[in-house]
Amino acid sequence: MVILNVLMHKSIILNFLLIFQISKYTCESPNKANHEKQKYTRASQWTHYLELIDGAVSKYEDCYNEGCACFASVLSDDFAVWHQREQVTQDDFNAARSYGVHYQIINHKLYRQDDCMFPFRCSGVEHFILEIMSELPDMEIIINVKDWPQVSLHQKPLPVFSFSKVPDHHWDIMYPAWTFWEGGPAVWPIYPTGLGRWDLQRDIITRAAEEWPWDKKEDKAFFRGSRTSAERDPLVLLSRREPDLVDAQYTKNQAWKSDEDTLYRPPATEVKLEEHCKYRYLFNFRGVAASFRYKHLFLCNSTVFNVGNDWLEFFYPALKPWVHYIPVKPDLSDARDLLLFAKHNQEAVKKVADRGRQFIIDHLRLEDVSCYWKLLLQKYAKLLSFKPTLNNNYKQIKGS
Ligand SMILES: *[C@@H]1O[C@H](CO)[C@@H](O)[C@H](O)[C@H]1NC(C)=O
Repeated sequence: MVILNVLMHKSIILNFLLIFQISKYTCESPNKANHEKQKYTRASQWTHYLELIDGAVSKYEDCYNEGCACFASVLSDDFAVWHQREQVTQDDFNAARSYGVHYQIINHKLYRQDDCMFPFRCSGVEHFILEIMSELPDMEIIINVKDWPQVSLHQKPLPVFSFSKVPDHHWDIMYPAWTFWEGGPAVWPIYPTGLGRWDLQRDIITRAAEEWPWDKKEDKAFFRGSRTSAERDPLVLLSRREPDLVDAQYTKNQAWKSDEDTLYRPPATEVKLEEHCKYRYLFNFRGVAASFRYKHLFLCNSTVFNVGNDWLEFFYPALKPWVHYIPVKPDLSDARDLLLFAKHNQEAVKKVADRGRQFIIDHLRLEDVSCYWKLLLQKYAKLLSFKPTLNNNYKQIKGS
């Protein structure tokens, strides 16, 4: 108690001294030199971030679109272990069978095992394979359509295709998610049948971006989503403390039972992706795996703040921190500082927004997605050491 009193006393004295000094400072001589000095201190507080942006931009070379070269490094990373082993054998393949849906390509026709746990996800995948069928050699593939990758680095590598992974943890080979075409997550009531085709979303959100040029946007960070991981909590809490800086709230997900699941507040209403364009700074977090939200956020011409960088989809590595987005630590300890930086350095972060949008517009078109599928399957087929024989129980997939 005594110690506490002393401490309190001490801090009162300190506070008093501080107030005294400040008032002395402000009352005395707000002359030009002081003003310049203040401006300088304020500016130098942000030099570190500005240098990170300048450094990253000067090192960055925009990739060449032809042959979806922007994403080539991901292919070589994902196949590195198989190139080392020189082939994917029948044994490797059989061991992978239980981790996903079994497809066969024989004579430019696509066949599949009967059951797929998520029919819309399977048809989202099949759309892209059917489109390039005439250019594909015979092969068989195991495609995992669950959210979660399947093959841990702790076990021996297996040729399983998944849409997302953490390269430090999984052997899975990444493929462009079904949601580019269909089977995206349904969000009631705003996306009752799923997020919808990527090419259409690109148009819808671009129109919204045009309605919300930078000067009209609110100078605020924004996030709406469910509490798929507690990693999002610090931003939601920051928003409760500083609502002028951040508007981040949890919405319901299917598992929602009580306010506890939305961090002890009633759930917020869902907000469509194009409505995110009203805000200058948009946060992206991982979800269960990588978040489908990410690519959409760039279309707004708002600055994307991407939290953590473990979880990938095939196109993530082509997007560079400080060039296309602002990287935020997974524990969000730098989130507030980065937002203050943004507010005080509008020209710099607006350019990050422009570059982010331009990258997605130029290099993540549906044709780039198809291009990646083609390279992926052609490379994979070269590694297979066996010829598939048609399973008579499988039906041919023709698409709609
Ligand atoms: C995005 O911003 C840039 C520069 O600020 C502008 O030229 C462009 O028209 C904007 N695009 C959209 C879709 O609003």
